[in-house]
Amino acid sequence: MCGIVGYIGTQTATDILLDGLRKLEYRGYDSAGIATLWEGEIQCIRAKGKLYNLQTRLQDHSSPAQIGIGHTRWATHGKPEERNAHPHLNREQGVAVVQNGIIENHRDLRDRLSALGYTFESDTDTETIPHLIAHHLTAIAAETAQPFSPLLEAISRAIQELEGAFAIAVICAAYPDELIIARQQAPLCIGFGQGEFFCASDTTAIANHTQTVLSLENGEIAKLTPLGVEVYNFQGERLRKQPRTLDWNPSQVEKQGFRHFMLKEIHEQPEVMRACLGAYFNGQWLEKATQNQETQNQETQNQEIQNQETQNPLSPVQLRFSDDLYSDLQQVQIVACGTSWHASLVGKYLLEQVAGIPTTVHYASEFRYAPTPLMPHTLTIGVTQSGETADTLAALEMEQERRNHHQGSPQGGDYRPRLLGITNRPESTLAHVLPNVILTPAGVEVGVAATKTFMAQLMAFYALALDLAHHRHHLPSDRLLALVSALHQLPKQMEALLRDQEEPIATLAHEFVDTHDFIFLGRGINFPIALEGALKLKEISYIHAEGYPAGEMKHGPIALLDAKVPVVAIAVPGAVYEKVLSNAQEAKARDARIIGVSTIGREADMFDDLLAVPPVDELVSPLLTVIPLQLLSYYIAALRGLDVDQPRNLAKSVTVE
Ligand code: F6R
Repeated sequence: MCGIVGYIGTQTATDILLDGLRKLEYRGYDSAGIATLWEGEIQCIRAKGKLYNLQTRLQDHSSPAQIGIGHTRWATHGKPEERNAHPHLNREQGVAVVQNGIIENHRDLRDRLSALGYTFESDTDTETIPHLIAHHLTAIAAETAQPFSPLLEAISRAIQELEGAFAIAVICAAYPDELIIARQQAPLCIGFGQGEFFCASDTTAIANHTQTVLSLENGEIAKLTPLGVEVYNFQGERLRKQPRTLDWNPSQVEKQGFRHFMLKEIHEQPEVMRACLGAYFNGQWLEKATQNQETQNQETQNQEIQNQETQNPLSPVQLRFSDDLYSDLQQVQIVACGTSWHASLVGKYLLEQVAGIPTTVHYASEFRYAPTPLMPHTLTIGVTQSGETADTLAALEMEQERRNHHQGSPQGGDYRPRLLGITNRPESTLAHVLPNVILTPAGVEVGVAATKTFMAQLMAFYALALDLAHHRHHLPSDRLLALVSALHQLPKQMEALLRDQEEPIATLAHEFVDTHDFIFLGRGINFPIALEGALKLKEISYIHAEGYPAGEMKHGPIALLDAKVPVVAIAVPGAVYEKVLSNAQEAKARDARIIGVSTIGREADMFDDLLAVPPVDELVSPLLTVIPLQLLSYYIAALRGLDVDQPRNLAKSVTVE
């Protein structure tokens, strides 16, 4: 949360900083501010609320400065007011700081610095940093041996005193050619231009200017000057680091004619599916398996599954993990938050029902403080689209540590950490720290509410479950082929769904603009989709919504129902179809309006409204059923005139606990 950006070079810094902040606004939008340095003076302009407030204010404060830092805030310490907006300053020494993260020992630091005579203007943890740097600058100035770069040295010393997770960028009036940045468990990257350098929390903020980037690692500090970039570790050793080229196009972060990013991202899902199919599945296997099936007679089909491998030695899935990860697996545990947690619940269903592996799903924020007892032969999966969610990263780190420290049990068994990450951001912390990663090729998602990245996470779980099922010989080959084939049909089915359903859903949304409560019901593999439908509605339309396993209705929530509480029931033909239909009828008998997410069929008249999805194998149906729910939430929120892409109080990358 919070986005930071910095620039040093030959162009007007304000324009570049504002452009960067616009791309980072998804990380928080409680306030924004920039500090620039011109002719030995720091100019700091800040404004409460969204970036356009800052933009308006800057119209009266233009500056030719070619160095500056900027910040967009998601409030942690201190209310979202202008005085708590970044940059924070030490005015005496002209030090300006932007920070993303939390300084955990800020109270101690504040007391100490206040006792030394430093005056605080805000309630934030960040304001301790400029004062601490100023304090060290004063101390360094009094020393006989002057360091090569006093500002770098002062910041290095200040950092040694900070506890917590942070990324900072600093400028100082006395050092007009230096922009210093440091990273400790919050993301920060550097962009390389011609005689100009950029820094930001995320490459999206600088991709308009350069495609050559370098991600700082934890414990690294860098000095950006008009002449180049120097990177050091916190111990002061110079590091040689190789920048890399971004492999995505900045146009991905434009709306391309759609009214909101969220709508654009919903529409991108068929392409995301195609990208996932291409990345995870082996087209040659599918071709060969299809041919084999066509030529096999019934007798061969009924033979043992292993026999199929001699006929098709290829693997259906191309995740290419080593045997170390998969061998003798006895359980999988998954940690995630929010929408990623919902994708993980679908993953659990698949890993258990398709691959036969007992699986548990945990909120990362709970697991890190109350982990399950250690069990051997365990695969731990962390799912986070941003790859930066603090709780998920911490839960994985904790799991790694406790397994590394485990000395074995009297019963023996393999307790080593087997960690796997699923993320959409190749440059994220998760992708850096984990040895095994499934990258989801969804492209940059700008809308704060996750849509296409959820779809890609689901696909990662389909690939993983089918890969494990194949390795463990757990699925009859005809079923494996049926599922892989069904997945390959989905992009076209999604396109049809979007084409046929968007307009009716947009029309239907008018009827719920003033609704206060919604219930979402699903069962089996579609229960997590009910949860996701409810979350989408809550977060962008601010309408209260609950997702339940349909069978649980009568154990309490049914008391909520009346004609004012619509019920969305996900009912696709399969193992629990009739059950969901009965549960929906129970709700209808209590006067609730029933919106069915279902295939068109004889039961259509059971629903007051039908959000039709193409008929598919129940096991792949979540990939379709979620789309009408995304559209419904989107259109309700848009009709309510809300800021769909940046809902209140939220941020896309939750880098604090
Ligand atoms: C909901 C949403 C959040 C995130 C959650 C985890 O639309 O986006 O619930 O899913 O904050 O984020 P990641 O996946 O980045 O760990």
